[in-house]
Amino acid sequence: MDSVQPRIRPFDDRDAEAVVDLSLRAWAPVFASLERVLGSEIFRRLHPDWREDQRRAVKDVCASQKGRVWVAEVGASVVGFVSVGVYDPERSMGEISMLAVDPDHHGGGIGTALTGFALDRLKEVGMKVAMVETGGDPGHAAARRTYEKAGYVLLPIARYFKNL
Ligand SMILES: CC(C)(COP(=O)(O)OP(=O)(O)OC[C@H]1O[C@@H](n2cnc3c(N)ncnc32)[C@H](O)[C@@H]1OP(=O)(O)O)[C@@H](O)C(=O)NCCC(=O)NCCS
Repeated sequence: MDSVQPRIRPFDDRDAEAVVDLSLRAWAPVFASLERVLGSEIFRRLHPDWREDQRRAVKDVCASQKGRVWVAEVGASVVGFVSVGVYDPERSMGEISMLAVDPDHHGGGIGTALTGFALDRLKEVGMKVAMVETGGDPGHAAARRTYEKAGYVLLPIARYFKNL
């Protein structure tokens, strides 16, 4: 997809439905990948209703992190969002807590634009280090590439699951 220049502006309560909708569509392949990697038994135990959990998580972030959530618009449509938080104030460490782009717009540079924008906001409030957590599985490949492109250094962490 050709690169598009989104308009990035603060989240407004009226954006909630569009943000939840694009998030659920963006995360569907990510959860499908998790299910393939973990197997259905473990996956269903960890995520009995990922859509509901994700809907709630996105709504909570939008409601509780006022002033720290932004949306990307292309034309009149909301096509992505990003939220930031202070991860460790003593170490001046901030984080991107959520990032998603409408799958119809993947590959257009919107995730990269939102990431750069979020890092600038963290710098503005005095953060010296930015952290972001994501998966090492194939479903999170785009997220990893987005963060690595933005200059993040990868610290591999392994988490294992076993059916008992
Ligand atoms: C991660 C995400 C926000 C990226 O949004 P996007 O608008 O497609 O990002 P960009 O267009 O800026 O692309 C970023 C890079 O990822 C690469 N990429 C896209 N899909 C990829 C894939 N499946 N595997 C590897 N790299 C991929 C792009 O090619 C680009 O790198 P490049 O410039 O070197 O070509 C989007 O894929 C998404 O919403 N994913 C689901 C939710 C998610 O994983 N959120 C973040 C972690 S919890």
